Amino acid sequence: MPVDVLFNEAQIQARVSEMAAEIRRDFPDGLHLVAVLKGAFVFLSDLVRRMDGQVSLDFMAVSSYAKGTTTSGEVRLLKDLDTTLDGRHVVIVEDIVDTGLTLTYLQDILRARGPKTLRTACLLSKPSRRQVDVKVEYIGFEIEDRFVVGYGLDFAEQYRNLPYIGVVNGD
Ligand code: IMP
Ligand code: MG
Repeated sequence: MPVDVLFNEAQIQARVSEMAAEIRRDFPDGLHLVAVLKGAFVFLSDLVRRMDGQVSLDFMAVSSYAKGTTTSGEVRLLKDLDTTLDGRHVVIVEDIVDTGLTLTYLQDILRARGPKTLRTACLLSKPSRRQVDVKVEYIGFEIEDRFVVGYGLDFAEQYRNLPYIGVVNGD
C-alpha cells in the first residue's frame, strides 16, 4: 500500500541531531541509553551516532497486547536488559508515545532499579491520545491522531525499513 510522507529523511535527521545534542548537553559525563525493541531501533542507531563522548546502550522488548492498531494497556516484558541501571544516567529511547501506557510501565520498572536519573526520549508523540500523564523529557515531533509507519515503526511488521515516516494510504 502507498504511504504518504509526513516527515522526510532530511527533516528526521535534522531533528534527531538536535535531540542528540540536547541529551548530550544534559548528561556530558556518561549516559546509558535503553532502547525499546523493535520500533526504536532505527531512531536509536541515528541518535547514538550523533553523540560524541561516553555512551553505552542496552535493549529491552515489550509487547503491548495490541488489538488492531490500539493498545489494550496490558504490557508484557519479552526481553530484559543485560546490565544493571544502578547509579547510571539512563535515557529510555522509544519510537512513539500514544496512550502512554507502555512508557508508564517501563518507567516504573526501570525506576525501581535505582538509576541516578531516568529520562525518556521519544521520536513521536500523539498528545491527543494520552490516557495517562506520562513524563517524556525529549520529544522529536508531536503529531495528530494518525497511525504512522516507517523509520522503525510498523504496521503488522511491515514498513519498518522506510527511511521516512508516513501514513498508510488505503486508497
Ligand atoms: P502506548 O502504550 O499506547 O503509548 O503505545 C506505544 C506503542 O504502540 C508504541 O511503542 C508503538 O509500538 C505502538 N504505536 C502507537 N502508535 C503507533 C503508530 O502510529 N504507528 C506504529 N506503532 C504505534
Ligand atoms: Mg514501541
